[in-house]
Amino acid sequence: VRETKKLTERPFGVNIVLQRPVEDRLTICLEEGACLISFSWGNPAPWIKAVHAAGSLVMHTVGSAAEAKVAVDAGVDIVLAQGWEAGGHVWGQVATLPLVPPVVDAVRPLPVVAAGGIADGRGIAAVLALGASGAALGTRFLATDEAAIHPTYKEELLKASEADTIYSCLFDRGWPDAPHRAIRNSTVHLWEKAGCPGSGNRPREGEKVAAFPDGSPVLRYSDVIPTPGMSGDLKALALYAGQGVGLVSRIKPASQVVRELAEQAVSTLRQLYSLSHAN
Ligand SMILES: Cc1cc2nc3c(=O)[nH]c(=O)nc-3n(C[C@H](O)[C@H](O)[C@H](O)COP(=O)(O)O)c2cc1C
Repeated sequence: VRETKKLTERPFGVNIVLQRPVEDRLTICLEEGACLISFSWGNPAPWIKAVHAAGSLVMHTVGSAAEAKVAVDAGVDIVLAQGWEAGGHVWGQVATLPLVPPVVDAVRPLPVVAAGGIADGRGIAAVLALGASGAALGTRFLATDEAAIHPTYKEELLKASEADTIYSCLFDRGWPDAPHRAIRNSTVHLWEKAGCPGSGNRPREGEKVAAFPDGSPVLRYSDVIPTPGMSGDLKALALYAGQGVGLVSRIKPASQVVRELAEQAVSTLRQLYSLSHAN
């Protein structure tokens, strides 16, 4: 957060996963001037007052309209509707297309940000058509110069198609019972070949697959992703990615990705506008 503050005068937000202790992290974020606190994976209600007292806004991730309504009634300012197509840990089980409109209807006039499966400007135009005020992209930004992940992970993202991800609880060592979407890799194939057994009965449980730069092991089925300096069979680790990974074909600077997303969203909306005005 402090590094980010050094790099920009512009507003920035911080995401806090509610599954881990919140208080210290939230205090630091607010002291350092984060304008937006985005919560996920839990109940944001106990923390909303503190964020508002600091003059910041609260966004919360939901997977249904009913959850969105509860969040807004508790004081959340912005709702992030995360569809099942999303990469990483996935909160809900409804896909983005059927999720966003009911969430928009449930919380109107508050803004909804759509997430999950959006990886280019056409996707942004599509969720604006669904009534969202904005889009949040995760997978697309993994394939950027700035993403702090290992080059091997970036290469696997470029190779994967929209059909190459799996939604499961497979990479559960470190974060059990939390569904996530990742690229199908050798660990997934090994598990599927064994008939998809439950945790504790899977092939090669406890095997060292890779190592951190200090030599400490990363075990099979760990929730750890390949980061710079790691060694070993990095392709066998959790390679989180959403179904939008099929739209990711080049590693670019994040600023270029943002510019291109905005340009393509605008040109798509213009095309749709002219279509609607033909004859
Ligand atoms: C590698 C990775 C890590 C993520 N980490 C978090 C996280 O810490 N907290 C969170 O709320 N969402 C996290 N997400 C989910 C994103 O915030 C977002 O909802 C999702 O990436 C949107 O779908 P997309 O991947 O199809 O763009 C992560 C996603 C990925 C791919």
